[in-house]
Amino acid sequence: MEKVVISLGGSVINPGEPDVETIKALAKVFNEFGGKLGITTGGGTYARTYANAVRQISGNEFLADEVAILETRQNAQLVISALKDVCPYAPDDFRKAASLLNTYKIVVMGGTIPGITTDADAVMLAEVVGAKRIVNISNVDAVYDRDPKEEGAKKISSMSHARLVEMAEGFDKRKAGTHFVFDVLAAKLSARSNIEVHFVNKQVENVAAALRGESHNGTVVKD
Ligand code: UTP
Repeated sequence: MEKVVISLGGSVINPGEPDVETIKALAKVFNEFGGKLGITTGGGTYARTYANAVRQISGNEFLADEVAILETRQNAQLVISALKDVCPYAPDDFRKAASLLNTYKIVVMGGTIPGITTDADAVMLAEVVGAKRIVNISNVDAVYDRDPKEEGAKKISSMSHARLVEMAEGFDKRKAGTHFVFDVLAAKLSARSNIEVHFVNKQVENVAAALRGESHNGTVVKD
């Protein structure tokens, strides 16, 4: 059975408080998908709030990441509650997730170790289970040639891994607080394993098409 991995952005799950309607709508698409699904869930608002609090208290980035990871797991549990044939808990490492995917149709996990993001986790999950496609669901509908908030930003419908890495690196250096849709490590890992990455927003038609590897309104990255 085909395996696809999803990186579900924390700001889609929890833009301020849990978005119950969006979670239910996406879960319906995931439940109806014909293959197996590995899902990583981002941290969203609570992760940022708690990480900032720990940072202010301790000045320790490792501890800030650890508390953010707990929030990604909380979001995993939230998504699990909407799914069928799903592992009822979020495994904390890739090997366990891969083995659980033999038993269940869907496995949802949060973050793993400090210093990375759930985008990178998604790519490593794809590598270990042998998935050839990742679907990144975020609040941005596609990858743009510059910050989509800037005037004249153009949507890119398809691009190479090399360009994705270049853009992720460029955005990383541009200015503090500017956030590219995929982090550099995730971009490099998907390049090394030649894993297709589909960028879509939360619209169910786009998500369903991306899961099947069909065309959609977002961006496809492949070589
Ligand atoms: P993400 O940055 O992946 O979540 O993880 P997100 O909410 O989807 O991100 P946005 O919406 O793009 O901002 C949240 C935080 O959890 C920690 C990091 O601090 C990260 O910024 N984290 C996550 C880890 O330290 N390790 C992981 O494996 C995953």
